Amino acid sequence: MSGASIAPEADQPKEFAFTPENLERAKKIIAKYPEGKQQSAVIPLLDIAQRQHHNWIPRVAMDHVADLLDMPRIRVYEVASFYTMFNKAPVGRHFFQVCTTTPCWLRGSGDVMRALQDRAACGNHETSEDGLFSVLEVECLGACVNAPMVQINDDFYEDLDYDKTVALIDALKAGQQTTPGPQNGRTNSEALSGATTLLNMRPGHRPAVPASAARPVADGAQADQPDPAPGGAPPAHEVAAQAEASPGAHRGDAEPEKKGRPVQKVETSGGHAGTTDKGEK
Ligand code: FES
Repeated sequence: MSGASIAPEADQPKEFAFTPENLERAKKIIAKYPEGKQQSAVIPLLDIAQRQHHNWIPRVAMDHVADLLDMPRIRVYEVASFYTMFNKAPVGRHFFQVCTTTPCWLRGSGDVMRALQDRAACGNHETSEDGLFSVLEVECLGACVNAPMVQINDDFYEDLDYDKTVALIDALKAGQQTTPGPQNGRTNSEALSGATTLLNMRPGHRPAVPASAARPVADGAQADQPDPAPGGAPPAHEVAAQAEASPGAHRGDAEPEKKGRPVQKVETSGGHAGTTDKGEK
């Protein structure tokens, strides 16, 4: 079905060619690479072939890609069999890749697999009788914060449990639209208890500013920028005003104030009045 398995001879079509639209796309991709390096387009071309052929790549499609790129067929077979996103045998319309690596396993990927077995009648490396579902256990898909998760065709479905997986399967069976992403209502990967930082970055949020705290805003500054912390940098418009009032202060030609090291006038032997730091030899 996927991974290293190759479709048996009986399932292999006899011929394959890109549609005119896909051939055009393939040519544009090939043209991106320098002369002599066109073989680097092998992965995007295999992807186009897979999408054209019901989400799996028959051997004749790999041969077609090899001929287009003028590369040995065995080299294309090697690439296609190395990357697990290329299916070398037919898969169901909804191809579930279930992450069962440690974080997802600890968070209940076993329940996700159980739900698939119970509701879709489909276990690991299997395709359901009706051709609707295929299931494959895979390694970490990089969405561990939202474990457990599955990839269905191109999309991630996260924060699953047994019931949510069953609901997802039922919706797909009914031909309903499903919504990828977290299935528990949280936004992306924010904390389960809700967002605690960057609250003013949330879509549509505009924090209320009390009239007493309203300040003029410099050109280009954000109106909802928080006040600087005590001791922090002053707002940009105050810095600009100070620079205008005392331009020398920013050219470095004003006497800087020395903190914690009081300056004391001393008389030199020649009666000349000079300055030195206290404690200086
Ligand atoms: S462990 Fe499952 S996405 Fe990383």
